[in-house]
Amino acid sequence: MAETAGESRRYRYLRAMQVDVWISRGHSPQAPVAVAVGEPDSTDAVAPPAKDDSDAAAIAAGTALAELEVVVSGCRRCELQIGRTRTVFGTGDTRARCMIIGEAPGAEEDARGEPFVGRAGQLLNAMLRAIGMSREDVYITNIVKCRPPKNRDPKPEEMAACSPYLGHQISLVKPRVILAVGRVAAQHLLGSATPIGRMRGQSYFYEKCDGGARIPIVVTYHPAYLLRSPLEKRKSWEDLRRVRQLLESSP
Ligand code: URA
Ligand code: SF4
Repeated sequence: MAETAGESRRYRYLRAMQVDVWISRGHSPQAPVAVAVGEPDSTDAVAPPAKDDSDAAAIAAGTALAELEVVVSGCRRCELQIGRTRTVFGTGDTRARCMIIGEAPGAEEDARGEPFVGRAGQLLNAMLRAIGMSREDVYITNIVKCRPPKNRDPKPEEMAACSPYLGHQISLVKPRVILAVGRVAAQHLLGSATPIGRMRGQSYFYEKCDGGARIPIVVTYHPAYLLRSPLEKRKSWEDLRRVRQLLESSP
């Protein structure tokens, strides 16, 4: 099979993600099998944001998100307000078809006010590029908007205090797919105590969206965990391919 520009680009992205690319016999090294089976290229990129709502509705949703961000910046609903430098509300396309939900801001996110900008964020960016997407195409946020001290897990009461904000974000962005990254985010979103290794690969739905929409949730490992356990990156790559497939099959 001849190498295409799209394939070689995807190959580079997989390398950036440090996913081993397996080359089967009979394929040229430039056409890795893992990449040759239906991954995106420039001709089948993820569809642009759905135009099913009017532009007015889109503008109203953007405005509502901006207003909510101002409310959150002054929030004192839980103890995490004590140690924060800045709240970290969310970033990306407010009409995104894919919403990525992590756990909580870390040190760099707390300093910059933006989610996933540290080392884990770099890996998340590479993972997104591997499915033909970028940070700008998705909406990224966390379960809690303030950094827990010493990066401890957020407590259940802190997640409960903060989750109405996330609920509003989901209702306003109206994603077609939610990617829950890491155990804390997945367990909180799904109200489950199942270990993440058993959650990933399963079909779940977020049912609490205003208007009754059921949004598929894909669970994957946290990029910070993948930095420590690089052998698991291949599984995350499979999870991201599922995100991609769900986006392609959703209206
Ligand atoms: N980890 C998260 O879960 N969220 C961030 O924003 C950064 C690191
Ligand atoms: Fe408010 Fe959420 Fe920050 Fe707690 S974590 S103070 S609920 S914004």
